[in-house]
Amino acid sequence: MPDINILYIEDDPAQRTSLAESLRGRGFGVVEAASGEEGLGLLSDETAVVLCDLHMPEMDGIEVLRRVQRRSPDVPFILLTAHPSIPIAVEAIVEGAQRFLIKPVSPDEMEISIYQAIEFARLRRWQREAEEQLLRLVEAVPVPYIITRLRDGKILYANKHLANMVGLTPDEMKNRNTVDFYYDPEKRLEVLERLKRDGFVTDMEVRVKRADGTPMWSVFSLASSEMAGEKVVLGGFLDITRRKDLEDRLHLYHEVFKHSIDVIMVIDKEGHILERNPAHQKRTGFTDEDLAGKTVFDLLTLEKAAEVKKAMEKDGGFQGELEGVGKGGEKIPVLVSVFPIHDEEGKLDLYVSMGRDITAIKRALTDLADTNRELRQTQAQLVQSEKMASLGGLVAGIAHEINTPVGAMTSMHDTLVRAIVKLKEHLKQQSPDAFETDERLKSLFAMIDESNQVIRSGATRVAEIVRRLRSFARLDEAELKKVDIHEGLEDTLTLVHHEIKHNIQVVRDYGKLPMMSVYPSRLNQVFLNLLNNARQAIRDKGTITIRTRIEGETAVIEFSDDGTGIPKENLSRVFDPGFTTKGVGIGTGLGLSICYQIVKDHRGRIDVQSEVGKGATFTIRIPTHLDEILGVS
Ligand SMILES: Nc1ncnc2c1ncn2[C@@H]1O[C@H](COP(=O)(O)OP(=O)(O)OP(=O)(O)O)[C@@H](O)[C@H]1O
Ligand SMILES: [Mg+2]
Repeated sequence: MPDINILYIEDDPAQRTSLAESLRGRGFGVVEAASGEEGLGLLSDETAVVLCDLHMPEMDGIEVLRRVQRRSPDVPFILLTAHPSIPIAVEAIVEGAQRFLIKPVSPDEMEISIYQAIEFARLRRWQREAEEQLLRLVEAVPVPYIITRLRDGKILYANKHLANMVGLTPDEMKNRNTVDFYYDPEKRLEVLERLKRDGFVTDMEVRVKRADGTPMWSVFSLASSEMAGEKVVLGGFLDITRRKDLEDRLHLYHEVFKHSIDVIMVIDKEGHILERNPAHQKRTGFTDEDLAGKTVFDLLTLEKAAEVKKAMEKDGGFQGELEGVGKGGEKIPVLVSVFPIHDEEGKLDLYVSMGRDITAIKRALTDLADTNRELRQTQAQLVQSEKMASLGGLVAGIAHEINTPVGAMTSMHDTLVRAIVKLKEHLKQQSPDAFETDERLKSLFAMIDESNQVIRSGATRVAEIVRRLRSFARLDEAELKKVDIHEGLEDTLTLVHHEIKHNIQVVRDYGKLPMMSVYPSRLNQVFLNLLNNARQAIRDKGTITIRTRIEGETAVIEFSDDGTGIPKENLSRVFDPGFTTKGVGIGTGLGLSICYQIVKDHRGRIDVQSEVGKGATFTIRIPTHLDEILGVS
């Protein structure tokens, strides 16, 4: 079988037979067809070359060429004509004919043309395959990729990654223009400028406009090149939307870091400060140089540093109140939270410490506590002075009530005594020795004398009690007055006498005190409260000792009892308003806080000493010359 089989289509039988014979004579295999229709029917895989006449009645050579091209594009096609025309020749070449021969053709020329056509077709096939190969390679590049025409920006090729990126198909991309895909048009001008100048652009950040009009950050590199005599631009893209988002996020976090009024620090495992926000320098005054080589622990007081270190080692973090130090050594109270940051493998990498300066809060809290205490104190005082006022009123009323009958009794008793003296004289006149002889009379008068004495001393005592009660009740004496402190003590003792006389012995260990200017009724209030407390602390039997002495310009008044005593943990609280261990309805817990305030108003102090089971001693120290201190006399 011959190597090269030719399909020869020619409507003129004479011409056909003659050329076919001559070709066969040169070793070619020739299949003959009388029309295009027939020829296309005979076209097979064996067909190496198609030889075809141009002018044929039913289907002309150009049409045959088109159809052959469609079925077997790689089979070389030679067109023959006796009436050549340039436009037709051009059309034939454009449609894919390898050769265009003018009849008559010599057998030699025919043979050469056949070989040329075969060779030509093979080259074209190679070229096509190479192109396809190249396209496959380009298609396989796993990044968004584009080829455009430099002169007008027409997109010649865009791979599927790029199409995906903008939300189109590769076919939709083709023939569109790069102009459509710049979100910022001025960027395009810059790109063109640089391409013209350098021939390339690398790693430029641009916003690509997606098909739906939304922007998308990308970084691209472009290079200009030549393809089929045309200047083109090849470009690869990278979608950096995520990176840009992260950058935005980072920027945001950095702003937070920068503007936070709380101190934020990033520290390593040893506590070295890797980063800190401006709030730290602003608050502490430490510059970066000041902190070089230092750890966060150097910025804390020693024992706190140890505590934080321990907590970080044990729990991985720390939360709580600390005292930081400023550049000038000043202490800054801060509320701190330290937490660990782990790397991707879960290993401890860094710590972040966030601290809030709570100086202002602390100050406000202290102020609040002070105000609160003052308020309660004032309230307590009001309550007590109200109580004292009504007690005073009551005492004064009772004293007054008792005073009248006692006055009447005393004066009547005087009258009675005088009457008895007169009676005695009268009896002596009647019978002068009746008193010597009449034993009965003697004993009766002895009885009367004794009774008189008892009545007198009783009346004097009642009068004294009444006086003391009235003196205690001198509540109008709110002003400074020079008094004898011992008098005040006695007045107060009188008031509580009936409550303590059965089981409590009062020991007076009075020293010498000068007349002192005090607020008498208020000081009595202190004595009364202390005596009441002492009385209440004594269970069955006991002693209350009142000591007074002078120490320089200070009068010391001490109340000791041998009662229950005060537990250590309560010692610092007994002067707090409202602190009581006596239970609802018994104590209000105001007594000592009022004493404290009154003594303070006297520019003095009150202290307590006590041990459980050994009683308690309250010591008052007040200056002897309050009037001078206060500038009143
Ligand atoms: N002499 C004392 N011995 C033992 N405890 C005392 C003595 N004096 C005061 N205390 C303790 O101090 C607390 C406070 O005393 P304070 O006089 O302020 O209030 P109170 O006696 O409880 O109530 P109020 O005085 O209003 O009746 C008492 O409840 C008691 O626990
Ligand atoms: Mg009390």
